[in-house]
Amino acid sequence: MDVHIGLSGRQDLAGQIYRQVREAIVAGRLPPGTALPATRRLAAELGVARNTAGAAYERLAAEGFLRTRVGSGTFVADGFGGRAPDPAPGVLRPLPVWETIREPVSLEGRPRYDFRPGHPDVRFFPWASWRRLLTSQLRAGAAGSGMYGDPAGHPELRAAIAERLAAARSVRADPQDVVVTAGAQQAIDLVARVLLPPGSAVAVEEPGYPPVRHALAAAGMRVVRVPVDAGGLVVDALPDDARLVFLTPSHQFPLGMPMAPARRAAVLEWADRHDAVLVEDDYDSEFRFAGRPLEPLHALDGSGRVLYVGSFSKTMLPTLRLGFLLAPPSLRRALRTAKYVSDWHVPLPEQAALAGFLTEGSFARHVRRMRRVYADRRARLLAALPPELAPVPAAAGLHLSAWLPPGSDDAAIAAEAARHGVAVFPLSMFGATAPPGLVLGFGAATEIEPGLAALARSLR
Ligand SMILES: Cc1ncc(COP(=O)(O)O)c(C=O)c1O
Repeated sequence: MDVHIGLSGRQDLAGQIYRQVREAIVAGRLPPGTALPATRRLAAELGVARNTAGAAYERLAAEGFLRTRVGSGTFVADGFGGRAPDPAPGVLRPLPVWETIREPVSLEGRPRYDFRPGHPDVRFFPWASWRRLLTSQLRAGAAGSGMYGDPAGHPELRAAIAERLAAARSVRADPQDVVVTAGAQQAIDLVARVLLPPGSAVAVEEPGYPPVRHALAAAGMRVVRVPVDAGGLVVDALPDDARLVFLTPSHQFPLGMPMAPARRAAVLEWADRHDAVLVEDDYDSEFRFAGRPLEPLHALDGSGRVLYVGSFSKTMLPTLRLGFLLAPPSLRRALRTAKYVSDWHVPLPEQAALAGFLTEGSFARHVRRMRRVYADRRARLLAALPPELAPVPAAAGLHLSAWLPPGSDDAAIAAEAARHGVAVFPLSMFGATAPPGLVLGFGAATEIEPGLAALARSLR
């Protein structure tokens, strides 16, 4: 263990070492059993003679503060210290906005019946392929320069993302316009900081995805919630002064319906008229189970005001923290610089491994396989849904929402369900004005029928 000792002058150096180590032991900063550095190392670090450090240790040992085990070193003796004093609470206070932002919901633990939205089933993840790709990157890294990479991302990953977007989403992308981010979440943060002066009005869907609202509020934006109906965002309800509109057109979060084609056209036209930015969050559209895919807003955009955000949290693993942003060339330089200023770049070994995963075909294979797994779970969920729950029509993603009878208290129902071992989220968690309902994830749900039977018991 390194021990902080500050020497002053050249007088009584052994005494200074003795007093500081003793004080640290008595105050509990060096608890019993802590290994102290060998006298040779301590002396070298402090720039003193070895026997000066030795004299201090001998005195501490003679007074019972230290014990020495031949061959294994010097340790703090038992019986000293007790609890280290609590750190001073401090006089510093965060900006008021941080008091308004909810702390993240704890996703620890594994409920018996897990219907939390947005969780992929990690047991199906091709761990062996991923391990092979990552290990080969770490080996190559040991032989390489180990220097910082391009803030916009690993070039092969940016190219692989652009290729996949073109093929799977009909989104034309120049790899130079792809920025690899720490999840979709960081993409939103970068967009707000690069494009909007603090105090700007930004529109989000209500109900909607809280972490994005928080990112925008934390960046100093005035967040305005705009209702959604069966066709998605109600474009007529957008405030005229909104500089940015955040939407989930493929699979509205949390309700699940796609944005209707007429609404897509309307919001593009609205953005043109109001000189606003549209942020299209396409977080889980790889999992579509019925019908034809609708054109992403980005593909319909004639004037370059749609920013497209993607995530690998559902297709790969949420723990990887990998996502991306596709933006017009006019923002290339600023976004790359913003990423550099924020955290320089996403870890390179993971980026390079993901590039390999995409180009060797493992990604497409995994998504195809999981589509079958999730389609089956979704069908079983719909078939066994308690009659009190009316599903919102939707055909994509890893969750669906269902309305409860009017007047129900969805938060109380979710709390009651938790007592029966069922984890579900109430719709009210995502918007204060949403009618009562439940959000049911099927990504990680394995025991669907018994889980829904337990949920039905908590509804009655
Ligand atoms: C609407 C929405 N956007 C994005 C994400 C993914 O975010 P990230 O890539 O930061 O994990 C989620 C995950 O639940 C989501 O629900």
